[in-house]
Amino acid sequence: MSKYILETKDLSYKYPDGTRALNNINLKIEKGKKISFVGVNGSGKSTVFLNFNGVLKPSKGTVIYKGNEVKYNHKSLLELRKNIGIVFQDPENQLFSADVYQEVSFGAMNLKLDDTEVRSRVDEALKNVEMQDYKDKAVHFLSYGQKKRVAIADILVMKPEIIVFDEPTSSLDPKHSKQIIQIFDELNEKGITVVLSTHDVELAYSWSDHVIVMKDGEIAREGTPYEIFSDDELINNCYLEKPLILEIFEELRKSGKINTTATIPRNKGELFKILMDSNLN
Ligand SMILES: Nc1ncnc2c1ncn2[C@@H]1O[C@H](COP(=O)(O)OP(=O)(O)O)[C@@H](O)[C@H]1O
Ligand SMILES: [Mg+2]
Repeated sequence: MSKYILETKDLSYKYPDGTRALNNINLKIEKGKKISFVGVNGSGKSTVFLNFNGVLKPSKGTVIYKGNEVKYNHKSLLELRKNIGIVFQDPENQLFSADVYQEVSFGAMNLKLDDTEVRSRVDEALKNVEMQDYKDKAVHFLSYGQKKRVAIADILVMKPEIIVFDEPTSSLDPKHSKQIIQIFDELNEKGITVVLSTHDVELAYSWSDHVIVMKDGEIAREGTPYEIFSDDELINNCYLEKPLILEIFEELRKSGKINTTATIPRNKGELFKILMDSNLN
């Protein structure tokens, strides 16, 4: 079987008002990887995601899930959405039940699981996002961040093979951002492919196996986090920012103060180690 779980071929999408949001997107997403989409607002990230699980139907081109071209009939779409879960950027667009338990159990019930399994999945999903104490609370009264975590539980409960998170950490406090990233890692360790979009270049740099940069409805470039964020021209052209960890490392390397063979740091811990090991005076 192909190592790619999700692919697009010449995918273009035009919104009903005529906006050409995507133009010939060719993507191959490797199973079990952690993938980040970056790019300014309006570059097409959300539109790609909505095409991934058939919420939107390509105007041209195809989406391929596990080697099979996606068909837009009821049965295939149900199957597709069971396997590709999307957590929307704005939880207000996703949550529609009265209370938290009802909301999260809805997806699991649609899978026709028995009651015990539904309950155990809902409990686990709510625990994962630290919302177990809010089970009986009205969704309406939750804070934005809490709604966001419930929207994530909504998808976790389905146990999909790929989870796509549209700007998952935007508007979350640092504690819950960290916690959610930890959940992503745990999911990924279980073999789930995790795709997200983010404006947080530090997150994209330190967390991802692979980074996809979008600009004006096209893929400007894709590669390893280092390949992407060490490319100053790309960063300028696509209005990205260089992650601070990498910027400090590159400056130190330029100044000759650190060993040129030092491994490129991916996080603060690795950068600190390089600083400790070097002779900075
Ligand atoms: N429902 C919509 N109707 C018309 N145009 C839209 C709609 N949603 C998004 N767009 C347009 O499509 C383009 C891509 O938007 P989007 O996929 O939301 O980008 P991103 O998620 O990277 O911010 C933008 O030009 C945006 O204005
Ligand atoms: Mg978006």
